[in-house]
Amino acid sequence: MKTKHSQTNNLFAPKDDLLINSQFSVKNTVSLYLGDCLDFLNQIPNNSVQLIVTSPPYNLGKEYENKLDITEYVSQQRRVINECIRVLKDKGSICWQVGNYVNNGEIIPLDILLYNCFKDKGLKLRNRIVWHFGHGLHCSNRFSVRYETILWFTKGDDYVFNLDAVRIPQKYPGKKYFKGPNIGKYSCNPNGKNPSDIWDIPNVKNNHVEKTPHPCQFPVALVQWLVLALSNREDIVFDPFLGVGTTAVAGIMNNRKVAGSELVIKYYNVACERIKLAFQGNLRFRIDKPVYKPSGNLSIIKDPFTVSEKKALCK
Ligand SMILES: C[S@@+](CC[C@H](N)C(=O)[O-])C[C@H]1O[C@@H](n2cnc3c(N)ncnc32)[C@H](O)[C@@H]1O
Repeated sequence: MKTKHSQTNNLFAPKDDLLINSQFSVKNTVSLYLGDCLDFLNQIPNNSVQLIVTSPPYNLGKEYENKLDITEYVSQQRRVINECIRVLKDKGSICWQVGNYVNNGEIIPLDILLYNCFKDKGLKLRNRIVWHFGHGLHCSNRFSVRYETILWFTKGDDYVFNLDAVRIPQKYPGKKYFKGPNIGKYSCNPNGKNPSDIWDIPNVKNNHVEKTPHPCQFPVALVQWLVLALSNREDIVFDPFLGVGTTAVAGIMNNRKVAGSELVIKYYNVACERIKLAFQGNLRFRIDKPVYKPSGNLSIIKDPFTVSEKKALCK
């Protein structure tokens, strides 16, 4: 499904062009830094960001990274994670999206390696979300890999979680209790169900509407759910490893302020372009599981059985 975002819904409705600031300020709608994330994080005050969503380099030797000894890689990630924790608000969340590091055919899941970077700082893991997708390399010496994970950590126990913003349709919306005190009432939430911790969303391959020259962008839909569930309007959503700006795009489309840093100028430029298009409501993106909007047929929340039906059921 190709979707256009409606501009009328945009909190920052543009009178002029969107201003992309190259330095951070909590007042900016968009702060995008061309350079190293640690330099950018230096500009960000303590406790100012509500949500951090990122997919860091996986240390695979892609064009944008130097392959490091794995211990050095983890230390480098730890430095960035410590800074992210510093800038995170008390009710905020960090979502670290990773796959496997592969060394001579041996796979090492990066979330296992990175978990302690968060745990050692007192953060709490709320979900290890499995992102399942259909396409990827075909392996001959092991099963082909078709999922990656998102570690969702919170800074404290009192955190933003807007479940109603991400409910999905019930599998059996008309299912009712057939015995007990609630007999005849619908047994499921009429506003939809919790989307669970397994998310089936296509990855961005060549024929995907969101595809850019970046080799490893994640889909807008993946970030959109996190933005809706873990932040509120006008909150700041930040991605230290911005790539072509998917996190910022999902934030802008949902009326959040956004910030990000990217080392490579060609990705930075694409990010700026995509953010502007998203702001104008002109960016093509793919939403695979729409947030559930009840149809307005209120009979769903009324007792669906007549008295005589109930009596018949009780017999
Ligand atoms: C896995 S990609 C992220 C892609 C992104 N999620 C998207 O959808 O476009 C990681 C990105 O981090 C950038 N990067 C690597 N090291 C960085 C650093 N120290 N500071 C800022 N960006 C960095 C890379 O150039 C790369 O574009």
